[in-house]
Order: sequence, then structure tokens, then C-alpha cells
Amino acid sequence: MATPVMDKVEAAAAASPYITATFRIRRFNPEISDESTWEDFQVEIDPKERVLDALHKIKWELDGSLTFRRSCAHGICGSDAMRINGKNRLACKTLIKDINPEKPITVEAIKGLTVLKDLVVDMEPFFQAYRDVMPFLVTEGNEPTRERLQSPEDRERFDDTTKCILCAACTSSCPVFWNDGQYFGPAAIVNAHRFIFDSRDEAGEQRLEILNDRDGVWRCRTTFNCTDACPRGIEVTKAIQEVKRALITRRF
Ligand code: SF4
Ligand code: FES
Repeated sequence: MATPVMDKVEAAAAASPYITATFRIRRFNPEISDESTWEDFQVEIDPKERVLDALHKIKWELDGSLTFRRSCAHGICGSDAMRINGKNRLACKTLIKDINPEKPITVEAIKGLTVLKDLVVDMEPFFQAYRDVMPFLVTEGNEPTRERLQSPEDRERFDDTTKCILCAACTSSCPVFWNDGQYFGPAAIVNAHRFIFDSRDEAGEQRLEILNDRDGVWRCRTTFNCTDACPRGIEVTKAIQEVKRALITRRF
């Protein structure tokens, strides 16, 4: 017969939110092997926690060599984009309960960029493409004596593309980028869009010419992978289409 103490333990266990989830992580360490390998980790975790929490548990409690990037842990810095169950997501914004913890959860580095170790890729080509589109306000003439004013309607034209956090989820989900890393990629075009359609900026033509390049916007095949991947909900494909249209009409 169960004792009152046992009843309490069993009730507590029944009420426990914790589950054991399997995280199947693609490991890569160039100092050990040229090949990546999958490794499973069993993690006791509340399904309401995030994949980033599970990665922390693995690193802090099971294997300190697991390597990944993160900073803010709240969807702002863009440093923890990774492929989770085959889809680009931010680990800090992905709840375990939303990705079927009944089955092993796969976690691997984003595609199209060189993997340096485990989940860390070389972001330099991504940031070079970003720098190439001049992601800053360009104006000529004298500095105004007061702030540069803009109507709400003009601000609205590029509101969506101001939300980019440079996580690379879009660019690294693009099949054109996978096949040829020379393509500027969706994120660079999104950030060019942010300034091309800014009424205060005077370098729109220059940016359009940069994107008229062989590796520019015309490489986009409108697969919408980028829009699906964006954790900020930016309509990435629409922004690319608007840049294409501006190139044809020269009106922006
Ligand atoms: S457009 Fe979205 S997916 Fe692409 S880098 Fe910016 S925030 Fe990330
Ligand atoms: S850790 Fe900053 S966006 Fe996820």
C-alpha cells in the first residue's frame, strides 16, 4: 500500500513539467576530423523552455566543448540562428514544445557559410555583402540645423526592413546562396531596401547599381524560403521584388 510520503512523491512527479528530450546535434571540430558527426544528448527540460536553454544545459552540464553563438537570448542580437529540425530559426525564440520533443530534435549550423566549429559559421561573407550595399544614410550638402524630417507615409515605405537583426536566417535558407556564395543574398538586399526607400537618403541610385550586378537581385528565384525563415516576420521576398521594380522603373 502506498504511504502518504510516496503519494506526495508520485503526485509531484506527475505534476512535474519536465520531460527528457533528445537533442541530435551535428558536431564538427576541424582539430579532430574533417567530417561532421551527429551526437545525441538527453536533456531533462521543461518543454516551455527554449532550444537555447537546452543548449546551455548541454554545454554546462554534459559537454563543455559544445560550441554555439548567443548573446541577448531574447531575439534581438541575431547571433543564434541555426537549423532546428531542418528549418532556420533562432534558438532563443524556439520553444521546445513547438518542435515535437517526442522525436529527436536535430540542431545543426546554418547552411551556405563555412562551419568553423559545431554550430558556429564564418559570418564574414555575409557581413561583407551587407557592407557592400552601403547600409548607412548618405546625404549631400550642408548639415541641417535640425533633424531631417520625414512624413509618416515616407517612413512607412521602409518600416518593415528596419526590423532586420542580421541573423542570416534568410540568406542561409536561400538555395541560390547555397549553390553560389557570391550572391549578395536576401539580408543584404533587405538592408539596401531600408535605405533605397528612405526619402532622406541620396544614394539610392548607387545602391541599385550595386544590386544590378551579376550577383545582385536578379539571382533571386522567388522561392520565399527567406520570408519563411525570417524570425522578425520581415516580408523579405517582397522587399527584393520592390528593389527589382525600382531597378526597372528607376522610381523609388
Ligand atoms: S531579414 Fe530577417 S532573416 Fe534575414 S537577416 Fe534580417 S532578421 Fe534575419
Ligand atoms: S541570442 Fe540574441 S537573437 Fe538569440
